[in-house]
Amino acid sequence: VKRTPLIAGNWKMNFDHLQAIAFVQKLAWSLKDAQHNYAEAEIAVFPPFTDLRSVQTLLAADKLAVALGAQDVSPHEAGAYTGDISAAMLARLDTRYVIVGHSERRGGHGESDELIGLKASAASAAGMVPVICVGETAADLEEHGAAAIPLRQLRAALGKLPEGAEFVVAYEPVWAIGSGDPATPAQAEEVALAIRELLRTERGDAVADTTRVLYGGSVSSQNVASYLKQPNVDGALVGGASLKVDEFSRIAQFQ
Ligand code: G3H
Repeated sequence: VKRTPLIAGNWKMNFDHLQAIAFVQKLAWSLKDAQHNYAEAEIAVFPPFTDLRSVQTLLAADKLAVALGAQDVSPHEAGAYTGDISAAMLARLDTRYVIVGHSERRGGHGESDELIGLKASAASAAGMVPVICVGETAADLEEHGAAAIPLRQLRAALGKLPEGAEFVVAYEPVWAIGSGDPATPAQAEEVALAIRELLRTERGDAVADTTRVLYGGSVSSQNVASYLKQPNVDGALVGGASLKVDEFSRIAQFQ
């Protein structure tokens, strides 16, 4: 089964309004010129909430084949949830993807596996595709090995996500995020394969064969191709390297 690779740039809490606009314009030029794989791959950028509107407008004006993603979403539909952003609000901005369960939210905001499942479900109900992030810390790795925690996190999220919902899984070992110390391609493949086997048990062959599993954690233009070569790794969730337009453009042209 051929799965369209997804190259996702998570800007985290970076850029101001003008930088966001300049980035997308430069990315558009760069991708239009490039001899690259991007016709084969799907590219998505995940700006902060405050820049979604301007990035949406630019992408639409340029007819650029770059999808828009958000970094988080409320599990609630609407109402008295100060500071939350609903899935419907994101969907109205043509947001296609929503990251849920990034380790910076699990760790920094105490988000539970269950809450992350509810967020994934809210995104899906609004017609978007949740990117469910899973990954073990360095301590988890030592105590349980690589796959146990990611599989627990994914099983819990799937427990809240209705059958038939499209989703993406991003395997991001916490120790590899922003550390310059990425997992080896073999390590990424081992956990990606375990994730796919879990999908097969929980959701059946069609979901297991079509769902994209990304690797994230210190991905750069130097190493991206080595992950994409792995049979069960279908793309990358890129943080730091997605903030430099030339570098992100090279990543999108992985060879
Ligand atoms: O969402 C992206 C990941 O947290 C990876 O970040 O590429 O800076 O290691 P990084």
